[in-house]
Amino acid sequence: MPSISVKELLIWKKQQLSKGGDHQSFAFLLDSIGGISKNNLNFTNINSNDYLYIKNLDYLESVWEDHLSNSAPIQYLCGITFWRDLKLKVTNKVLIPRPETELIIDIVFDIFNKKSQEFVFAELGTGSGAISIALSLAYPLCQGIATDIDQDALEIAFKNFTNSSEQSNLRFYCGHWWSPFEKFKGKLDLAISNPPYIPKDTYEKLPKEVKNFEPKIALFGGEDGLQHIKEIIKKAPQFLKEQGWIILENHFDQGEKVKQLLIKNKFTSVEIVNDLSGVGRFTIGRYK
Ligand SMILES: C[S@@+](CC[C@H](N)C(=O)[O-])C[C@H]1O[C@@H](n2cnc3c(N)ncnc32)[C@H](O)[C@@H]1O
Repeated sequence: MPSISVKELLIWKKQQLSKGGDHQSFAFLLDSIGGISKNNLNFTNINSNDYLYIKNLDYLESVWEDHLSNSAPIQYLCGITFWRDLKLKVTNKVLIPRPETELIIDIVFDIFNKKSQEFVFAELGTGSGAISIALSLAYPLCQGIATDIDQDALEIAFKNFTNSSEQSNLRFYCGHWWSPFEKFKGKLDLAISNPPYIPKDTYEKLPKEVKNFEPKIALFGGEDGLQHIKEIIKKAPQFLKEQGWIILENHFDQGEKVKQLLIKNKFTSVEIVNDLSGVGRFTIGRYK
């Protein structure tokens, strides 16, 4: 691997950023495929004669130019993303898991507060597998089942699971929401979904780095954004045990509507949970 002095690296970085783009994406590029993490840079003295190892500068420049020329998400170009403490493979077949979704794992930690707890969870619409993989690693004794309608997405989720873990407590099924789970009726302690919830009008106006690259099937929630959430909630009582929990992610302004849908379908302890920016991003409840 070629090496570069810290001084040269900083000059090169400045040149690249002068073409456009933001510091965060550039740091991601350096870290994920350049082999230089933020920590590497923070711990080096700018004026020192230290050398850092870096992967092919020409290649990094060409990825950066791709990113700038058509707004392709840097995570897709690098083929990976970081989510909680996971390093996940991503392609344009899966949504890039968002930082706000990380909080779902903390909500589960509040509900099931012993890591040795045995429970059965299902995730509907797993995408890259982020949520299910994080849970199966955190709770080695639990059994997880995860679905997605898209076989390509499931293959990525499965790869991410085998890359992150030697455990075998998570299985993947292809199909429409609850349909692959017939044999789990009445057996789930927890159901989780971050379904497509973007309303039609908002979808049309999404920034091009999202609309042109991320799968529509992962984002578009019908006219009012609630099409999939309604279907998931309606059938959830058939699959959850009594007192089983549901955790749903929703659009910033859907919390109250999702809450009413849960109440209408006999859920209790229904609560809207804010994300770190104070947005009512999650709605949770307990079946009876
Ligand atoms: C918003 S993404 C969430 C992905 C991942 N769980 C996350 O949080 O990053 C929604 C996921 O639901 C899947 N999906 C869409 N329609 C579906 C359906 N009818 N049945 C099952 N999965 C579906 C999409 O393929 C996509 O992976």
